[in-house]
Amino acid sequence: MLNLIENINKYDIYQNEKLKDFIISLEKKYPVVDEIELFKNEVNFSKNASIAYHGWFKYREGYSHALVRELIKRSRITTEEFVIDPFCGSGTTLVEAALNGHHGLGVDINPMSAYISRVKSNNYSDSDLDILSENIDAIPHLNEENIEPIDLEEFPLIRKYFKDTNLQQLLTIKFYIQTIKNQKVKDLFMTGFLSIIEDCSDRKRDGNGLKKAVSKVEDVYNYFYQKMLSIQSDLRIIRVKSDATGWAVSDSSLNLKHHVDLYSYKTQKTPGAIIFSPPYANSFDYFESYKMELAIGDFIETTSDLKKLRDRAVRSFVSGVSLSLDVDYYIEAIAQEIEDSIPEKESITGRKDHRTRKVPKMIKGYFYDMKKIVEQCALSLPKGKKCYIVVDQSSYLGKIIPTDLFLGYLGEEVGFKVSEIIICRRAKTSGQQIQRFPYLSESLRESIVVLEKL
Ligand SMILES: C[S@@+](CC[C@H](N)C(=O)[O-])C[C@H]1O[C@@H](n2cnc3c(N)ncnc32)[C@H](O)[C@@H]1O
Repeated sequence: MLNLIENINKYDIYQNEKLKDFIISLEKKYPVVDEIELFKNEVNFSKNASIAYHGWFKYREGYSHALVRELIKRSRITTEEFVIDPFCGSGTTLVEAALNGHHGLGVDINPMSAYISRVKSNNYSDSDLDILSENIDAIPHLNEENIEPIDLEEFPLIRKYFKDTNLQQLLTIKFYIQTIKNQKVKDLFMTGFLSIIEDCSDRKRDGNGLKKAVSKVEDVYNYFYQKMLSIQSDLRIIRVKSDATGWAVSDSSLNLKHHVDLYSYKTQKTPGAIIFSPPYANSFDYFESYKMELAIGDFIETTSDLKKLRDRAVRSFVSGVSLSLDVDYYIEAIAQEIEDSIPEKESITGRKDHRTRKVPKMIKGYFYDMKKIVEQCALSLPKGKKCYIVVDQSSYLGKIIPTDLFLGYLGEEVGFKVSEIIICRRAKTSGQQIQRFPYLSESLRESIVVLEKL
């Protein structure tokens, strides 16, 4: 299984010989090791659901806390050093670092992600917990209060996603949260609140955005109450210490080095390891998926705010900004392979495939952005320190995009050496592609690219 070189040769995956030889040479040059037994269940978020802190906000694009714990252990980071995650998402890295006694710095272009990551990796005192408890006791009484019905017409961005009763209750909770004076408790409440929005809506995230799914939640107050009780119970069992908290900023990781310098100054510690999972080149649009939370949490006011955020994200989705970019020969070549395969697909289906036509530009944009961000990682790390990148290969029209090998190669260009590529499990692709190109079910992989700063 997973023999990339065999598959490339057997199925004639690439037409460009130079590209084919290059990919094979990378696969031979890098130490590619199989750790599927250890990691196969650790690269997705599902195991986090029942774990303290990690389960607060369901972030389907996240990885597991156990994977981060293992990588922190392998990095041999000391307490004089901090962990960095340039794509911190729901804060898995920062929380795990904090619970293991390390400061952590996260960056995420999504302001809600940065906010949740900060809140989850913060330190809370006994008195914060007392105030938390008092406020939780007030939740069951929210429906007894004589609250004027909220005019839902004032919420055009989100109204269509909810039943009126659920939205009324959600907004009542939100207004209650705004009255909480203790900022840390208010943040915990807000995090709990953001975490229940999907379940209380008539939508479900499906990677590419939101699909219709009627909410099973009938009593939003009670649902929120249960959520806050579980957050409280986690905080009672285990707490981040004040000398090992996390911090996250909402920005593009194209500015990572700047934030690392500020954080080093603030904590008087040095960067010890970088651990992250970037968006994959798989066309998923995070901002479509999280737009309900962004709007109801006041992170955006209009759809143009959403667009501004999307335009600054790594171009991993087809609606990303498409500019003509000056990219490396091999990135251009793989984009061209896809471009050249489009006419055949369109002749089989008999119609224009507008989405796939945008993929070559997306691939170029993706690696263009990732090279710059990997360079920021190199600039941020002292010599000998490691950067762990958890990434999926993807495929379009039967062409494998060997993301792990390419990130290794781009890393080498900006000051890293590739220590190893650890195969964690098979990666999936669409049923449609598997039908046409059955070899994909055996070839695609999810791996950890381990880079060492030279
Ligand atoms: C795969 S998710 C990371 C999930 C995270 N490891 C976790 O466990 O929650 C990738 C993240 O990258 C963020 N992102 C996309 N483009 C970015 C950019 N240019 N700079 C910083 N973050 C970005 C997305 O908002 C998303 O949260």
